[in-house]
Amino acid sequence: MARVFITGCADGLGKMAAQLLGEQGHMVVLHARSEKRAKEALAAVPTSKTVVTGDLSSIRQTRHVADQVNGLGRLDAVIHNAGVGYKQPERIATEDGLPREFAVNTLAPYILTALIHRPKRLIYLSSGLHQSGDPTLKDLAWEHRPWRGTQAYSDSKLHDVLLAFAVARRWPAVLSNAVEPGWVATKMGGPAATDDLDSGHRTQAWLAVGEDRAAKVTGEYFYHMRRRKPHPAARDVEIQERLLEACKGFTGIELA
Ligand SMILES: NC(=O)c1ccc[n+]([C@@H]2O[C@H](COP(=O)([O-])OP(=O)(O)OC[C@H]3O[C@@H](n4cnc5c(N)ncnc54)[C@H](OP(=O)(O)O)[C@@H]3O)[C@@H](O)[C@H]2O)c1
Repeated sequence: MARVFITGCADGLGKMAAQLLGEQGHMVVLHARSEKRAKEALAAVPTSKTVVTGDLSSIRQTRHVADQVNGLGRLDAVIHNAGVGYKQPERIATEDGLPREFAVNTLAPYILTALIHRPKRLIYLSSGLHQSGDPTLKDLAWEHRPWRGTQAYSDSKLHDVLLAFAVARRWPAVLSNAVEPGWVATKMGGPAATDDLDSGHRTQAWLAVGEDRAAKVTGEYFYHMRRRKPHPAARDVEIQERLLEACKGFTGIELA
């Protein structure tokens, strides 16, 4: 039995992955943005008894999520699943003055990776849209360029792959991978999504606990339990390091 922490379990792929892992007999620590959503997550995943709360758009609350998780003891795997979507028509500033996509999709996984006691495996939810992400990492906070919601999302999903690969390189004892779940009909994906919903959550769950050789790799990008080629910039060590440095600048937290 593995102990797995998943962010964003009140809905979508996080909830489905938590249900699947629970049914397989693993212990899943849930996460939700608020007390209300935490109750809903517990009701949706009856095999789980533990939930931590915190809004991942807030640096302060994300730190608190890490504290809560560390108070529960060591984990085997962390799935950085929570995310916000790709069609936001305007720049919504968080309490830290950052665009919500960058805060939730990029900084939150960075902060949680840096602060949660190192697990054996890390999984980062990316997207096929990461292929359109901006590898220059210019203006991460969208202060100087006109807002484009889909670009902000794509950038953040490239950041998730960069983060997964940076961690794989820096922490060789940890298996760290990124996942593209496909375009699936969750709250984020919307009803027009064309990919198979039932395949969307399986890869993240498999990478968290799978014992077959294919699941026990590191620094890879997966789609439906198979390796797929990520954006070439994701393997660029200099870009990876620049992203880590930028995240440290925004949060004051160092990834050791
Ligand atoms: N669906 C797709 O087609 C698709 C495609 C490519 C990649 N992905 C990626 O897959 C992951 C899961 O997406 P999904 O489709 O399952 O989306 P979803 O149905 O919208 O669920 C997202 C989850 O993240 C949580 N969340 C969002 N913002 C949060 C915040 N500020 N603080 C705490 N929790 C927050 C949500 O909580 P609430 O329910 O309370 O809002 C929800 O539990 C994301 O990283 C996404 O980028 C999805």
